[in-house]
Amino acid sequence: MKYLIVANWKMNPESPLKAKLLFNSIKKGIKKIQPKKTKIVLAPPFVYLPLFGRSFENLSLCAQNCFWEQKGAFTGEISPLMLKNLGVEYVILGHSERRKYFQEKKIGQKMKACFKINLKPILCVGEKEKGKIQILKKQLDFLKKNSNFKSHFLLAYEPVWAIGTGKYCQPKKIKKIVQILREILAKINQDFRKIKILYGGSVNSQNAFSILKEGQIEGLLIGKASLKAKEFLKIVKIAEKIS
Ligand code: PGA
Repeated sequence: MKYLIVANWKMNPESPLKAKLLFNSIKKGIKKIQPKKTKIVLAPPFVYLPLFGRSFENLSLCAQNCFWEQKGAFTGEISPLMLKNLGVEYVILGHSERRKYFQEKKIGQKMKACFKINLKPILCVGEKEKGKIQILKKQLDFLKKNSNFKSHFLLAYEPVWAIGTGKYCQPKKIKKIVQILREILAKINQDFRKIKILYGGSVNSQNAFSILKEGQIEGLLIGKASLKAKEFLKIVKIAEKIS
């Protein structure tokens, strides 16, 4: 099993110097670990992407969002094509923070624009309140109109109540919800069975092992714990050991 460990730096750190330091420490650590079965994906803010070179074996670059057109008069937006030309491989779409603060729309169109140029979307879904998981089906509903998408995207299950709160979802619960997500996806398109599902929400080096193993997921989307190289690398090591 090959795990995908994604670092979502969100709007951090506050200077290019700090971003470079963090990137270099992570890169150095990865060289030491030499992961064979784990893929590391870094999602820094847009402005830092050009500082890190292109995606390479085991370490890929990811954006935290993108626009749905490739170019044009869209002030303030970043296109998938621009990201592709920078060597980016993945794009996080529909993160709950974007849904909350920007009423994130047109996720399907954004995904389409990514597929056109071979960028891989990481689509995020998650319920606001513990237990209220009916919303997950609604959040995936748009895929019905796009059942020709094939399986060229990943899904990140990120319960909103777990993001940045220190209260992670129990691995057994993750396993159950991932099963439900797989059923929803398969009903939309049989091909979607192959989609890799990640978990995100207060993952750290203490809980990563049980989340990966008992949660039976295929990777992690990590916020806070990805801002400290040591902590993040610990999680990479854990994933590499299990996989
Ligand atoms: P967290 O964030 O690890 O800080 O909870 C996860 C995310 O929002 O992707």
